[in-house]
Amino acid sequence: MSHSEDSKREGPAISADARRLQERAHALIPGGAHTYAKGDDQYPSVAPPFIVRGRGCHVWDVDGNEYVEYGMGLRAVALGHAFPRVVDAARRQLECGTNFVRPSPLELACAERFLDCVRTAEMVKFTKNGSDATTAAVKLARAATGRDLVAMCGDQPFFSTDDWFIGVTAMPAGIPDAIRNLSVKFRYNDLPDLDDVLRRHQGRVACVILEAETTVPPLPGYFDGIRRLCDAHGVILILDENITGFRWDVGGAQKLHGVRPDLSCFGKAMANGFALSALAGRRDLMELGGLRTSGERVFLLSTTHGAETHALAASIATMETYQSEPVIETLHRQGERLRAGVNQAIALHGVEGYVEILGRPCNLVFATRDTERKPSQPLRTLFMQELIRRGVIGPSFVVSYSHTDADIDRTVEAASEALAVYRRALDDGPERFLVGPSVRPVMRPRN
Ligand SMILES: Cc1ncc(COP(=O)(O)O)c(C=O)c1O
Repeated sequence: MSHSEDSKREGPAISADARRLQERAHALIPGGAHTYAKGDDQYPSVAPPFIVRGRGCHVWDVDGNEYVEYGMGLRAVALGHAFPRVVDAARRQLECGTNFVRPSPLELACAERFLDCVRTAEMVKFTKNGSDATTAAVKLARAATGRDLVAMCGDQPFFSTDDWFIGVTAMPAGIPDAIRNLSVKFRYNDLPDLDDVLRRHQGRVACVILEAETTVPPLPGYFDGIRRLCDAHGVILILDENITGFRWDVGGAQKLHGVRPDLSCFGKAMANGFALSALAGRRDLMELGGLRTSGERVFLLSTTHGAETHALAASIATMETYQSEPVIETLHRQGERLRAGVNQAIALHGVEGYVEILGRPCNLVFATRDTERKPSQPLRTLFMQELIRRGVIGPSFVVSYSHTDADIDRTVEAASEALAVYRRALDDGPERFLVGPSVRPVMRPRN
């Protein structure tokens, strides 16, 4: 615990009051928070336990310390915190009421705006969480095909909080084998593997679900190949655009990569942090949940809060901003600026191959490796710890439209100093530099 001599500074002070709140949260809330990804086991101990407010890409903790933030509400706040155009639209709607006994015309207006952005889709239905959208897509595919199996990309981290997905993670407690046995996995960028999965389960797979891209781009022809295989096997192709949507392109990764999904699922960035998600796709499939089908009806996304008017108003304003301002270009440009700066610092401190900035500039993540070049949670913790001490917080380097050149430059400077500590930790071991426990994977069977 010789951090004071080993590291340049202590960083923002966390008060005893903030620590008391943290303890109390764990006493009342399992995990101390309502999203595992925000939990204490995901951040170094020097991280502020709570954030009380944000503006643009800056956030303030309960003690008044200010940070530049990355990740931005699990990638939902793509424009920036309290983005005035979005807040104004939501506020105006709050004054008019948020939930009535009959639909609001905003439901149509938001659908029109969404379908103007996502051109492959013929219909759309809104709900609150990305998980509800992917789960609805799976149900619709099962109903349309009369088949049970879900083929999901096994290299991608998350599709839903529901049993069909959580059942095949490292945390499947409470989910019956009967459900778990209905999910099968294929490898990304590996058409022969998908072909093999569809052949082995011939006539039993309802849908293929994947993200268009995480940190590795699709190989040329990959999506044409998936489309062909899905058509040949009568399988519904579902694209999960919860992360890529409104970030890769206003029309989603499907637009950028020229993918033609049958159904696609959006959430996160579509309402800049307000709760709204969407299932979109082919009319003949979506109508199974409507009032105009002669077939057996599917219970498709009907919830009390699904179309809260202020969230719809926020989403319309958000999508209008994407369409009228250089949001996507800015996300890519600032991500590129950040990557270039951090890569220079990586070279300067001799940590190439140990710290790596991965992914598309609009969605950068960092890999932290040990002396054997294996992924290291202690070194991840150390890198985040040293960034936080220098006023930069985030589980990734995912930028928003509000990250300015000055914010990026400040981050590069912080990263450079953090990487100097990282270099020493590679030589002397991270334990000497860590002031608290290491972060741990979210999905793990035991604490
Ligand atoms: C790719 C992907 N799909 C689905 C989800 C689930 O979204 P939500 O948390 O809104 O239910 C997430 C959430 O992180 C995600 O990253």
